Amino acid sequence: MRSDANIAGPMTDPVPGPRTESAGEDVSRETPPPPLDDTPIGRAAQLAVEALGRAGEGLPRPQQTRIMVVANQKGGVGKTTTTVNLAASLALHGARVLVIDLDPQGNASTALGIDHHAEVPSIYDVLVESKPLSDVVQPVPDVEGLFCAPATIDLAGAEIELVSLVARESRLQRAIQAYEQPLDYILIDCPPSLGLLTVNALVAGAEVLIPIQCEYYALEGLGQLLRNVDLVRGHLNPALHVSTILLTMYDGRTRLASQVAEEVRGHFGDEVLRTSIPRSVRISEAPSYGQTVLTYDPGSSGSLSYLEAAREIALRGVGVHYDPQHAHAVGRNSQHSVSEGIQ
Ligand SMILES: Nc1ncnc2c1ncn2[C@@H]1O[C@H](COP(=O)(O)OP(=O)(O)OP(=O)(O)O)[C@@H](O)[C@H]1O
Ligand SMILES: [Mg+2]
Repeated sequence: MRSDANIAGPMTDPVPGPRTESAGEDVSRETPPPPLDDTPIGRAAQLAVEALGRAGEGLPRPQQTRIMVVANQKGGVGKTTTTVNLAASLALHGARVLVIDLDPQGNASTALGIDHHAEVPSIYDVLVESKPLSDVVQPVPDVEGLFCAPATIDLAGAEIELVSLVARESRLQRAIQAYEQPLDYILIDCPPSLGLLTVNALVAGAEVLIPIQCEYYALEGLGQLLRNVDLVRGHLNPALHVSTILLTMYDGRTRLASQVAEEVRGHFGDEVLRTSIPRSVRISEAPSYGQTVLTYDPGSSGSLSYLEAAREIALRGVGVHYDPQHAHAVGRNSQHSVSEGIQ
């Protein structure tokens, strides 16, 4: 049974319930028989087809490469998960996308199935050794149009090594500017800190995407990130702005999640995507198979919500109003009411 199949229910994976003793028994005939696809497998298959159909629909491409810095110095809020799944969603929507793994943990590289053992040319070589980005970029298996610049353990020393280098804050920016392959999006997965690696990302990108986990203290520490964004904008990168807030691990059954969502919408308003990402076992399982949830379980609620978030990001980027009425069921399940007046 696909635990994610029921996307119309609570936005978490239901715990598989006790099974009835034998299939076909005890079926009430008082109500009309269910439609053919009203089985977990049928629904999952239908959703997978819909998801892939939706993914193939194509979305407007940005006129220029959009460089999005996925940052939040708080650990475990869904930065990497968001980076890889959004990137895969955008690629499935027809865009050419590069993921830059800027975290020494190398989680984004792992999740994309990219080899990143110590000898592999990596983003460390780009930042510290001035190697061209094109020398380290690898295509992501399974997803056409998706590429990754991996991080290896070497990157752990980079924060310190960068300190003494010329133009230490803008080394990633320079590498990206020299990269000649056409790209629609570059998504940079930052480590959970505000050191030189994150600063390099903030100097290189124009947009900051902040994933916020729908838990207590969701907004704690964000002020520091926002101040850093202001500092970098003031001194090094006038184009930088927080363009996107994405609510992650949203558990529709809890009052807490909707309270956090309201608070975040109160603070950030229009930057918050209408689509939020549900807490989903499928999302957390996918990386251990070196896959995004888009290929691991295309019909799951997690997959559909990332596809929908990608659609919203792509439409916003070209100034098209995103209409959740036409969004998939996952979008409709998300929080839509923008609460006002909450500080
Ligand atoms: N929507 C989700 N549903 C269930 N689990 C999730 C979801 N999003 C992320 N996770 C899980 O939460 C954990 C933290 O996610 P992730 O690694 O993306 O966070 P992060 O912000 O990149 O962490 P770090 O700060 O360490 O880099 C991971 O185990 C991931 O699989
Ligand atoms: Mg991470």
